[in-house]
Amino acid sequence: MKILFLNGPNLNLLGKREPDVYGHATLADIETEVRKRAKSLGVKVDFRQSNLEGELVDWIQEAKGNFDVIVLNAAAYTHTSVALRDAIAAVGVPTIEIHLSNIHAREKFRQKSLIAPVCCGQIAGFGQNSYILALEASINVKVDKKYH
Ligand code: DQA
Repeated sequence: MKILFLNGPNLNLLGKREPDVYGHATLADIETEVRKRAKSLGVKVDFRQSNLEGELVDWIQEAKGNFDVIVLNAAAYTHTSVALRDAIAAVGVPTIEIHLSNIHAREKFRQKSLIAPVCCGQIAGFGQNSYILALEASINVKVDKKYH
């Protein structure tokens, strides 16, 4: 099984960026934890970050046939990107939406996710553990099942 972790804009700043909201772990720290757990579960992971919407769209498109599940922290694009939503819907690779923070307990504009309706489900509010929970959830996602 192969899982593609995609991280959107400003997540490269984790550790320094609003630590009261996002914690002190860097994205590299999170990747290390994800890789450790993936190894113990016997799954392969690829872990990427981009500040560019188009690059994230390209990676989602390229996931078809190469990955079983996408775990996506689309960051601010969660709330704005029709392009990411369309890419997920077009490609049909089961996608799990994740967030470090509980977006539903934050500003009104963060409470709306444009990608949620085309994802299998959402994990939000568990800090870096959201990534580990998504990894564990990925194992049980059935590729042939439509969730929406
Ligand atoms: C985030 C939540 C988003 O609203 C925000 O724009 C981010 C990070 C999270 O992981 O909590 O950049 O996706």
